[in-house]
Parts: sequence; structure tokens; C-alpha cells
Amino acid sequence: GKPLIIAIDGPAASGKGTLSRRLANLYGLKHLDTGTLYRGVAWLMLRDDLDPRDAEAAAEVARAFDPEALGTADLRTPTVGRGASLVAVHEGVRKALFDFQRSFGLTPPGAVLDGRDIGTVIFPDATVKFFITASAEERAKRRYEELRVQDQSVTFENTLAELKRRDERDQNREEAPLKPAAEAEIIDTSKLTPDEVLGRASRIIDNIR
Ligand code: C5P
Repeated sequence: GKPLIIAIDGPAASGKGTLSRRLANLYGLKHLDTGTLYRGVAWLMLRDDLDPRDAEAAAEVARAFDPEALGTADLRTPTVGRGASLVAVHEGVRKALFDFQRSFGLTPPGAVLDGRDIGTVIFPDATVKFFITASAEERAKRRYEELRVQDQSVTFENTLAELKRRDERDQNREEAPLKPAAEAEIIDTSKLTPDEVLGRASRIIDNIR
């Protein structure tokens, strides 16, 4: 039948990654964390001393980019995250990454894709759309707890400030700004456990299918 496509959008550290992995497991779907595409482009630019603000250079890197060839690059650092949000404002970058995301989702049996514009731009035709959010303080707390394991110099205040800057850039850009799709199911995870979030989402999916 038609591939099942679950679109999951939301700000950084909202819990959308955890939910996406668990939904993919539960329904036997593939999973694509689309943030890794923007992080991959940013990582290559930083490696080659290119400026992520340079639209032409960024689009060129994105067009030559092979998501399968990233290997062991460490994409999860704050520097790469910030670079990703800088390259993500460019129309040429988003266009270059569009086809890969579409083909990934349309290959049977379907997929869970998570990012910022899955329900609004990449799969406006998704089977079901979620917008996963949480308060800035709660998200910063989660991100801070992850980061400080590797880096004793991070502080909660810096993590919160960086998260707010990134949200603001993602929400206010011209191309594919972060916002819930009109039909998205909104889940605020601030006071929910990962199990509770999965329970809510899967009940919604089971009712639609
Ligand atoms: O989700 P993650 O933190 O890995 O995303 C890094 C950045 O990539 C985001 O802040 C956003 O600017 C960009 N992004 C995007 N569209 C997506 C996924 C990520 O613009 N679908």
C-alpha cells in the first residue's frame, strides 16, 4: 500500500528525536533525523574553513553532499548545531536536500522524519503530523545534562541562551520557518515522560490508520 509517513517537527531538545526513534521501532518504519543533513553541510563547511553565512558556498556544498558518506563526523556539538542553523536559512541549501528527504520517505514501507519543516514543506501530504514542544527552560535543562557529561565548562545559562538564539533563527527565517503545520497534533513534553509521549502519539496514529 501507500507508504506510511510520520512527520515530526519541533524546536531543539523538545523530545522529537526520542519519539521518532521509538515510533519507527513500533511501526517498523525507517527513521531520518533531518537535522543531521544540515549539520553535515555545516560540518563540511567548518572543516574547509568556509563561512556558513555564505549562501552560494553553502548551496554548493549541499548540492555535492552525500548523506551516506559522513562516516564518523561528530555532528552533535554546539558549534555544528549553530552552523547548521546558519546554513539552514539558505534557499539553495534547502532545495539541494529536498529530493533526498522525499525519496527516503517514499521508499516502502515509509518512514518517520523529524526536523523543522517536515509537515509544512517536505511532506505536506504526510499520513500524520506532530509538533513536539516544551518550555525553553525544560529543553535547556535536557540539553545541558547531555552536554556537561562531555564538557565541564558548559553552563545552564549558556545552554539556554544558545537554544533561544537557535529557536529564534529557525522561527523567523524566510525559508521554511519552524512552525506547526495546520493539521499537526501538538504535544508539549515539559511534564511528560518519554513513555507518556509515545503513548499519546501512538494512540493518535492508531486512530488515523
Ligand atoms: O535538530 P537539529 O538540532 O539537529 O537541527 C540543527 C539545525 O538544522 C536546526 O537548528 C535548524 O536550523 C536546521 N534544520 C532545519 N530543518 C530541518 C532540520 C534541521 O532547518 N528539517
